Amino acid sequence: MQPPLEAPGSELDELERLERRFAEVHGPGATPRRFFSPGRVNLMGAHLDYNGGPVMPVALDRGTIIMLRPRSDDRLELASTLEPGGLSTCLSDLPRAPSGRWYDYPLGVIVRMLRDGDSHVGADVLFGGNLPIGAGLSSSASICVGTAFAFRALWGRPDDPLACIEAALWGEREWVGVQCGIMDPYAVALSRPGHVLWVECRDRAYEHLPLDGTDLLVSIVDTGIRRELAKGDFNLRVSECGQALERLRAQGERAAVLSEVPPEAVASAAGDLGPVLTLRARHVVEEMARTRAARMALLDGDVEALGRCISATHASLRDLYEVSVPELDCLVDAAIAVPGVLGSRLTGAGFGGCVLVLLRAEAREAFSEGVRDAFERRFGRRPPLFFFQSGGGPREYV
Ligand code: GLA
Repeated sequence: MQPPLEAPGSELDELERLERRFAEVHGPGATPRRFFSPGRVNLMGAHLDYNGGPVMPVALDRGTIIMLRPRSDDRLELASTLEPGGLSTCLSDLPRAPSGRWYDYPLGVIVRMLRDGDSHVGADVLFGGNLPIGAGLSSSASICVGTAFAFRALWGRPDDPLACIEAALWGEREWVGVQCGIMDPYAVALSRPGHVLWVECRDRAYEHLPLDGTDLLVSIVDTGIRRELAKGDFNLRVSECGQALERLRAQGERAAVLSEVPPEAVASAAGDLGPVLTLRARHVVEEMARTRAARMALLDGDVEALGRCISATHASLRDLYEVSVPELDCLVDAAIAVPGVLGSRLTGAGFGGCVLVLLRAEAREAFSEGVRDAFERRFGRRPPLFFFQSGGGPREYV
């Protein structure tokens, strides 16, 4: 069951709903502790994280809510209001392999934390919130970082965003098996309200760049398309980039990561790379230049230029990286046709999910109607659409 994008309810309503559900699922007892972990959109740096380039994510004010109550034994009881089924097990005898169910994500994080020597106090846990799952808004990093954050609090460990990032990455890569880059857990763990997070993925240096939102809005429009295949398609792109770098290096290229290969070197190696790897490598090296230009535009307050970079990224994801679908292209084309819309692109890995749109506040009505009408004319339904404020990292409700 997906939470409807247009009826988010207040966070307070969601908390009350989850508290009632917690008692139904886990029975009476002490009041659970309550944690929030955000989702994210990525403005620029599309598919650059695993190619060693920079990324520009922003955390959302929507995310995962985790309710958690310690137990007197070592049992682990995981349930969710967003997905059916749950896990009932012991920390001393956890499953040895993922099951393909939603709880692989938090379980992978817990497996890693126990290997690091964390405590063995069990817990009753309920996951919920208002972040659509599998929609390119990083629901998986939200749940993984949030799990690490909440269990560190439960087990009396100090707040440590980098430790949460490591546990989340291990959970997704080694347990679930998605070869994701570092952007999503960094965005979830380290974002600040009113800022874009800039991460140089090659050495993991990061900084917070102010996002002046006075006259600007960011919207998310959901195609409703969810592709289970996307994990396989994503891993294929990761491996194509690895192959492209290997072939370029075999030709004498010295760059250690694909994003740092000069565009001319990609052009002159096209014969060796073949058509597909050439397209992938072109996206990566061109996105690298675009992302640096977008950073300058952001720092200069030139939102028109920033918007143009965002839309050019979408064209590259569609034509060179080939991770778009007609529903995403329809939303982007309809959005950028509206006066006052500065830029639009698919967010996340692609293959479905959402587009993000940067627009001037005065264009809000024309944009909302224009985009929904255009999508309905072509696909026969009105897509969910919402506006968000940039948010911060995980926190406990007190
Ligand atoms: C997914 C991955 C990220 C990143 C983006 C594309 O969200 O989890 O690591 O590669 O796709 O930019």
